[in-house]
Amino acid sequence: MSDNEILVGLDIGTTKIAVVIGEVSANNILNIIGVGTHPSEGLRRGVVVNLDKTVRSIEKAVKSAELMAGIKVESVYAGICGDHIRSLNSRGVVAVSRNDNEILNEDINRAIDAAKAIALPMDREIIHIIPQEYIVDDQDGIKDPIGMSGVRLEVDAHIVTGAVTSAQNIYKSVYRTGIKINDLVLQPLASSYAALGDDERELGVALIDVGGGTTDIAIFYEGSIRHTAVVGLGGKNITNDVALGLRTPIEQAEKIKINFGCSYMRKVPNEEYVAVPGIGGRPPREVSKSVISSIIQPRMEEIFYLSLREIKKSNFIDMMTAGIVITGGCAQLDGIVELAEQIFDMPVKIGNPTGFGGLVEAANSPAFATSVGLSLYGWKENYDSNIEYNEDDSKLFHNILSRMKKWVTEFF
Ligand SMILES: Nc1ncnc2c1ncn2[C@@H]1O[C@H](COP(=O)(O)OP(=O)(O)OP(=O)(O)O)[C@@H](O)[C@H]1O
Ligand SMILES: [Mg+2]
Repeated sequence: MSDNEILVGLDIGTTKIAVVIGEVSANNILNIIGVGTHPSEGLRRGVVVNLDKTVRSIEKAVKSAELMAGIKVESVYAGICGDHIRSLNSRGVVAVSRNDNEILNEDINRAIDAAKAIALPMDREIIHIIPQEYIVDDQDGIKDPIGMSGVRLEVDAHIVTGAVTSAQNIYKSVYRTGIKINDLVLQPLASSYAALGDDERELGVALIDVGGGTTDIAIFYEGSIRHTAVVGLGGKNITNDVALGLRTPIEQAEKIKINFGCSYMRKVPNEEYVAVPGIGGRPPREVSKSVISSIIQPRMEEIFYLSLREIKKSNFIDMMTAGIVITGGCAQLDGIVELAEQIFDMPVKIGNPTGFGGLVEAANSPAFATSVGLSLYGWKENYDSNIEYNEDDSKLFHNILSRMKKWVTEFF
């Protein structure tokens, strides 16, 4: 079997590592032949904090996918958390000091340079800068100001920055398992390959991945990714709230959330009770489902309101004709669509991964959108960056940056 026919997605998440092995069939379908997951240890909010634990978790997830598929994984498409990529808007202002006040290309370059002059921490670097619109004197909404007359030129630009060290840690973790990385892909971009249709991406849509540690947002419009943002809250916060609120251990709180939790109180029938185990040998208590929901809903609301704030910041909110698609493990929380529709005031759907054959059931959950999407990305983009890795290699820094530049030039 040649290497090209197998495309493996590796999603290194805060709560789970997920591996999806895809095989391209003779009739040109990506068939999933192996899926493996293992609880993730060693990450906090999407960033590797313990390398050894992360390496071991990856090894175990890969092993179980290999057993199912009956093949050995040699290379993967790995996701990078959205936390890694930040974007912000910046305005650059310059004076047009020529006698005739005509705006030339060089004025635009100066305005963009001015927008780039933002304070960045040492570990971050500007990856891309995308002019959104120009303002000449006080006239805004100008797409191309060249040749216009004015004394003052402003540009509103979208700036994407990346932290290099978290990418390096993903590289290290994977390479220590002896597996090669074909490509690093921005997680929400990968998820979009599995959870969004071309029509949705064209019309305008926000993909919201509510994971365990973070909530990643990516906005697509006219076929391209336009904005990315991360809210540092996820399902783990909901579980903690349930544990505190019901005074029960975390593991029990997780089970209660998954089995009986609802994020929309109006959906919960009155007078239904659940047995909640006590802490430290205390006897179990009966708690009503509406009490459990009254703990979950406010946290889920907070996550959505913070996501809405990010979407509003992007200036694309009025272009999101296709509404919201929710992926990630928390998309399975009962009542999530109802709550999201109320908060976003837009159509909302759950993004179950599609576009593949084979073991469809094994990956049929919004929690697999990223891992399936990574495998689909590998198939559709068929990109192999072939970055040679060596832990002491200072060039890696530049390799990673040039990869990131490729995403943004491709997708903006
Ligand atoms: N059926 C379910 N109902 C409600 N919540 C669920 C369900 N299944 C999983 N979850 C929650 O989903 C979260 C994990 O989601 P996911 O697998 O997308 O996270 P991750 O990719 O590991 O994390 P991240 O993307 O933040 O790094 C956990 O908090 C878990 O409790
Ligand atoms: Mg995830």
